[in-house]
Amino acid sequence: MVLVTGGAGYIGSHTCISLHEAGFDFVVFDNLCNSSQESLARVEKIIGKKIPFYQGDIRNKQDLQSVFDTYKIDSVIHFAGLKAVGESVTIPLHYYDNNISGTLVLCQVMQENNCKKIVFSSSATVYGDPHTTPIKEDFPLSATNPYGRTKLFIEEILRDLYVSDNEYKIILLRYFNPVGAHKSGLIGEDPNGIPNNLMPFISQTAVQKREFLSVFGDDYDTHDGTGVRDYIHVVDLALGHVKALQNMDNVQNVLTVNLGTGKGYSVLDMVKAFEKASGKKVPYKIAPRRAGDVAKCFADPSYAFEVLGWRAQKGVEEMCEDSWRWQSQNPDGYDSKI
Ligand code: NAD
Ligand code: UFG
Repeated sequence: MVLVTGGAGYIGSHTCISLHEAGFDFVVFDNLCNSSQESLARVEKIIGKKIPFYQGDIRNKQDLQSVFDTYKIDSVIHFAGLKAVGESVTIPLHYYDNNISGTLVLCQVMQENNCKKIVFSSSATVYGDPHTTPIKEDFPLSATNPYGRTKLFIEEILRDLYVSDNEYKIILLRYFNPVGAHKSGLIGEDPNGIPNNLMPFISQTAVQKREFLSVFGDDYDTHDGTGVRDYIHVVDLALGHVKALQNMDNVQNVLTVNLGTGKGYSVLDMVKAFEKASGKKVPYKIAPRRAGDVAKCFADPSYAFEVLGWRAQKGVEEMCEDSWRWQSQNPDGYDSKI
């Protein structure tokens, strides 16, 4: 049985479907602080099966222990965490507590229950401002905000855990920019309030929930001056987790893997691709650079293929089409009636 912390969230809910399709049994644990149980209800609709769900906080030992008491948990996919960069600057202690203390409690409970396999959601943010692109796993690491530092610290904590006991099987997955949604249009990204990230902002502008997109800077050293990122379809990302679990037993040392496509697209490339996929206009205005943003960030994904046999399959058209299907069918996210 796989324990999926944060399984009601954006990436977690898509991963539940991939786990089901690959034949894994799993239980979801989430405190719903940034998600709703409706996402799991919709996953159940897609897979035609009830999902065992525990509402609890990873910082609470008893909450977690009750899952281990009920199920024989062999491995954990650990998505639970707070992820808003700007918010992490405003309330750093809350980020350190939720993400780092939460992971410590999770690891303690795992240890007490002799569960030694974990896949952790890390992020390309740990590369800071990369000296060159594409980014390889052995590039220098740094963080420019508390959110990024939680990812860096947790990576280190998990490496220390392995040093203390080589029976641990630990995979750190560094995601680039997840976008898109499941083909059904039933599940997708549902940010609270005004989206911080590009794709949900573009799609909300296309359904006229937002008047225009602010493009943060057009004077970067990129092909059109706007920031370049490695957008990866969330379903490809979900499959990366299945591959991680399937390869877990062969892992030596801590395995650290980039999950990206290896292709970089600018903000304006994404606006154009989205307009094409949706047939809608996405009005935009050039705005000042956003503090902390880097010019270019995209992966060298070759190691993921080498060690996990995983490679992203879906291109930017499909990412935009699927984001649009989700957004247009659910203009109010999970509050939308279906
Ligand atoms: P999300 O917010 O949709 O999902 C995270 C889930 O964790 C939510 O359902 C939330 O309710 C839950 N959660 C948070 N704190 C918890 C706690 N203390 N106890 C129990 N549950 C808790 O985010 P996502 O986009 O699905 O991201 C999943 C993971 O991937 C996060 O760790 C995030 O930092 C990481 N990540 C995300 C991105 C991205 O751009 N989406 C990029 C890189 C890494
Ligand atoms: N952007 C805009 N306007 C917006 C939002 C974003 O122009 O309204 C631009 C940004 O300046 C950047 C690009 O779109 O050039 C992508 O920005 P996002 O906020 O979507 O994504 P980031 O690359 O800044 O960061 C995301 C997550 C981080 C994660 C990182 C790497 O928010 O948590 O990807 O995985 F660490």
